[in-house]
Amino acid sequence: MKMSNFQNKNVLLGVGGGIAAYKACELLRRLTDSGAQVHVVLTKAAQKFITALTFQSLSQHPVHTDLFNLTEESEMSHIQLADQADVVLVAPVTADLLAKIACGLADDLLTTSLLVTQAPVVLAPSMNVNMWEKEVVQFNLNTLKSRGYHIVEPEAGYLACGWEGKGRLAEIENILGAAHDIVTAQVGGKKKSLAGRRFLITAGPTREFIDPVRFLSNPSTGKMGFALAAEAALRGATVTLVSGPVALPPPSGVKYHGVTSAEEMLKICQLEFPQSECFIATAAVGDYRSENIQKQKGKKTEGPLALNLVRTPDILFELGQKKQTGQIVVGFAAETEQLLKNAKEKITKKHLDLIVANDVSRSGNGFASNDNQVTILSPSGQKTALPSMPKTQLAGILLNEIEKLMNGVGN
Ligand code: C5P
Repeated sequence: MKMSNFQNKNVLLGVGGGIAAYKACELLRRLTDSGAQVHVVLTKAAQKFITALTFQSLSQHPVHTDLFNLTEESEMSHIQLADQADVVLVAPVTADLLAKIACGLADDLLTTSLLVTQAPVVLAPSMNVNMWEKEVVQFNLNTLKSRGYHIVEPEAGYLACGWEGKGRLAEIENILGAAHDIVTAQVGGKKKSLAGRRFLITAGPTREFIDPVRFLSNPSTGKMGFALAAEAALRGATVTLVSGPVALPPPSGVKYHGVTSAEEMLKICQLEFPQSECFIATAAVGDYRSENIQKQKGKKTEGPLALNLVRTPDILFELGQKKQTGQIVVGFAAETEQLLKNAKEKITKKHLDLIVANDVSRSGNGFASNDNQVTILSPSGQKTALPSMPKTQLAGILLNEIEKLMNGVGN
């Protein structure tokens, strides 16, 4: 059994009111065994399944249940409870609790503590499979993921309610592993290579509306940018992902902004760029928008329609110009001809530290596919041509190159 080390770590363990509440006792025992100081907060519903006394005996600390209890508050206020935590772990999270956290409600001690805390939060949901699959539950889950909550998804199997499917609380080992990797900024026992680094990544297409029902766009699905964001977050980076409309769920632990137009994407990026050590522009930003956006749906006529198009802002160019010492800016170049020549020109024009060039005229490459075949170019003229590979794998290779730049090695 892998032993997670929580020595000198303060854990706030929240327990929701589901049948899996009894498993939180094992979680608590394992946390204290591995050196953690654990303070437990039970919801009202959790107390119907399991008693505070059990958790008090296991944690050797008073258990907290009531936001308005004067004795509890005088011993340790809910603000202190939330402030002193290195990580907040909630298991099990019921559908009700998930909805409350997603909405930012604070009507009991646990939800209030979750709003107060600035520590990373790990949520381990558990519920009936039909509840889990409900659109509204998945919506809440995606909202939480997009706000940077770490989710340890339930597992499939026999459920206490008699149904079979996804909904069982994840293995204690996996919940502990997720919390451990977060508090120690480690993965697989090794220090996370991007711990403490801040990334800003754009992804997906943009949409430029002509009228309320028509827009100009492109086939980008966001897969490359999402893969980079997920990999950077796994390596410990704080990642902000700004994406145009795509069908992908935001990666776990990543701060997500969904946008529509190039102008909107630029605004968010301008706010985030000064705090970012690395900006990766994978978005396929539309270069033109209609000069006049019609308020009403345009009526079709027999003859041709002429649209007057004007340029959208070039986000990468704008931010590249403002680059400060220590900031790394990486661009993509999707070309259908003269790949390397065009990519080289963009390195200079957009003040890039690296450009990733791909020939989108070849089928199965680039836009909307799972695979990508690229050449990485540096300002010094160094080029690395990579074979075709899944975008998830390519994300790892690109981040290795970016890490070298961030650590002052190479190019
Ligand atoms: O000039 P071109 O569009 O080929 O440059 C591609 C690179 O510039 C990509 O990294 C893309 O994300 C970025 N870009 C941008 N804003 C635009 C156009 C492109 O950030 N309006």
